[in-house]
Amino acid sequence: MCGIVGVIGREPVAGKIVEALKRLEYRGYDSAGVATLENGHMERRRAAGKLRNLEARLVESPLHGLIGIGHTRWATHGKPTENNAHPHASDKLAVVHNGIIENFRELREELIGKGHVFATETDTEVVAHIVTEEMRGGLGPKEAVAAALPRLKGAFALAFLFDGEENLMIGARLGAPLAVGYGDGEMYLGSDALALAPFTDTLTYLEDGDWVVLTRDGAQFHDMAGRPVVRARQRTQASAFLIDKGNHRHFMAKEIHEQPEVVGRTLAHYLDMSAGRVNLPFDLPFDPAKLSRVTIVACGTAYYAGLVAKYWIERFARLPVEIDVASEFRYREAPMDPHGLMIVVSQSGETADTLASLRYAKEQGQHILSVVNVPTSTIARESHVAALTLAGPEIGVASTKAFTCQLSVLACLAVAFGRARGALDAQAEKGLVDELIALPGLMAEAIKREPKIEHLAPSLSKATDVLYLGRGTSYPLALEGALKLKEISYIHAEGYAAGELKHGPIALIDESMPVIVISPYDAVFEKTVSNMQEVAARGGKVILIGDEHAEREASIDLHAVIVMPTMAPTFAAIAYAVPVQLLAYHTAVFMGKDVDQPRNLAKSVTVE
Ligand code: M6R
Repeated sequence: MCGIVGVIGREPVAGKIVEALKRLEYRGYDSAGVATLENGHMERRRAAGKLRNLEARLVESPLHGLIGIGHTRWATHGKPTENNAHPHASDKLAVVHNGIIENFRELREELIGKGHVFATETDTEVVAHIVTEEMRGGLGPKEAVAAALPRLKGAFALAFLFDGEENLMIGARLGAPLAVGYGDGEMYLGSDALALAPFTDTLTYLEDGDWVVLTRDGAQFHDMAGRPVVRARQRTQASAFLIDKGNHRHFMAKEIHEQPEVVGRTLAHYLDMSAGRVNLPFDLPFDPAKLSRVTIVACGTAYYAGLVAKYWIERFARLPVEIDVASEFRYREAPMDPHGLMIVVSQSGETADTLASLRYAKEQGQHILSVVNVPTSTIARESHVAALTLAGPEIGVASTKAFTCQLSVLACLAVAFGRARGALDAQAEKGLVDELIALPGLMAEAIKREPKIEHLAPSLSKATDVLYLGRGTSYPLALEGALKLKEISYIHAEGYAAGELKHGPIALIDESMPVIVISPYDAVFEKTVSNMQEVAARGGKVILIGDEHAEREASIDLHAVIVMPTMAPTFAAIAYAVPVQLLAYHTAVFMGKDVDQPRNLAKSVTVE
């Protein structure tokens, strides 16, 4: 959460900083700020709320410095006010921070005891003061940062600007991403490649514990012990992606509509379509036949993708799968089988809990396979093998296309494991591959249901609570549907396995309760019909997302039906995600909510 950027340029940098912050706003949008050196002296402009407020502030009161840092905030410590907005400053420096300083209270008390006066409620301000204290003791900026960093506990990416130092910027990273960008006579710092994409495609990612000294001429890297180190430069693809909404009102709409294309692209990367088999684009550093267990760990929507994959891997590869949310897994000291595989799923590849789980599993001798959307992310780099989703940048905070691309990759892996373990023969593999190949077309068909879905939004928007039900792979999709609705419309929603209804949630059903049932006509459809009857008998309004056959056999008075194209049920969750996402999207838009940047959320959750 939070995005940070730094530029040492040859012309005024405030415009470039704001441009980079726009590309980082997905990381948080509670406040924003910029600091530059004006004739050698620190000047800051900050504003609460979205970046446009900072832009207005900069129009009233421009900055002209040739070196500067910027920040877009997802508030952790202290309210999202202008006063708590970064950069935080002392008489010697300014700093921007992504992450959490866990020992900030002790440090703050210590520094107050030494006469420092704190102006904000943030944890970050201690970083400004602790480095300042070292400088007051006689150290130069580099030595002061090197002395202060080991005292900070927690997770951070930091960028420092020093009063009177027109050709010096320092960055540091521990547990939160930070990259150095190389321009033509300019140098950059940024939270990710996307931020720096308009300026450079050549980057170096700091490793955990690294800090870097930037001047206009280059970068000197140091490891945690302060030793100079060499870190490789990489070319990135990020600049190839345009960050705009096209003809859509919101990024979320664009990303939902892109799904047939990006799922098709992802599947083409993993399948040999003419041979009808899975063709993984990397060598597996383990033999699937020798695996004894798979553990899947992820957060939020990525977790639900993992939950769907559990059904596929168990069924096709006959491999037991354990799955947990990363925030629980990382602390529960799970015993892990010596021949185990951990699959971590993450769009951003930076989610703090998922990364910590990966590191725990690595220590336990697991093979680590990540399913990630950002190839240069920490999770991708720390995995033994990274299976990329080719969704392109996902800007809407609510995950849509990343989810269906994760499902596509996981489906291919499940089939590949099944084949390698002898649980599927070539014919069965071909059948499954043919079903996968059909998906982009089916998703395009599903998008055509949009007018009908939009029509349901006004009535759904009146609900205070909504229940989503599903069985089999539709159960995790029910969880995802509920998450989508609550995160962008703020309507309370819960997902349940349909069979669980009678074990408690049925008590909630009355005439005001919409119940969204996700069910293609599959092997368990008859069971789902019983659950729909239970709801209808209590006056609940059933909205069925199913196919024609399901509609015919539902045998109750449905409040509404979203009729999906007929398809084999195995991978239907991938196509059925489309109406689930559109329903949440249109309900939130009807309610006037900010669907791309819902309140309190951020796209990349790099804190615990
Ligand atoms: O970047 P990740 O996939 O690791 O992020 C995981 C979750 O934070 C993310 O899926 C979150 O739940 C989304 N807001 C859901 O739309």
